[in-house]
Amino acid sequence: MRRRTVVSSLAAAAAAALSLPAAAKEALPQVQVFKNPSCGCCGAWVEHMKAAGFVVNVTEVDDTSVARKRHGLPDRFGSCHTAIVAGYVVESHVPANDVKKLLAMKPVAIGLAVPGMPVGSPGMEMGSRKDRYQVLLVAQDGRERVFSTYH
Ligand code: CU
Ligand code: CU
Repeated sequence: MRRRTVVSSLAAAAAAALSLPAAAKEALPQVQVFKNPSCGCCGAWVEHMKAAGFVVNVTEVDDTSVARKRHGLPDRFGSCHTAIVAGYVVESHVPANDVKKLLAMKPVAIGLAVPGMPVGSPGMEMGSRKDRYQVLLVAQDGRERVFSTYH
């Protein structure tokens, strides 16, 4: 009787563990991307986000600064594409792991930005070259602080 209880609770634990990835995937909010149809690196970033488990919805626009402005991200952080995730702005080639970290931390902020188009960031791969770059967390007053650094 005792042994049976142990076995069934092990089975329950295994079942719970198996269902975890699906649950984690469902918990990720949809990513709304605004990008120019002719931007190749933007498309590569979308693929990066999908590979990380996000459901991505793309809207092709001529001018991504419209979406940026609407969501309050100052233009000086502007780059090639703008994404909206759970109310946060994610500007440019931000790694999916940083987006997940943001969603877990839920800071009071506008969102994340990677200024410029650093080589080696997701969607900007060029062979083995990797530029040093930083992911910035932009506060609601427009001030930034370093969220992560990549070498
Ligand atoms: Cu780009
Ligand atoms: Cu882009």
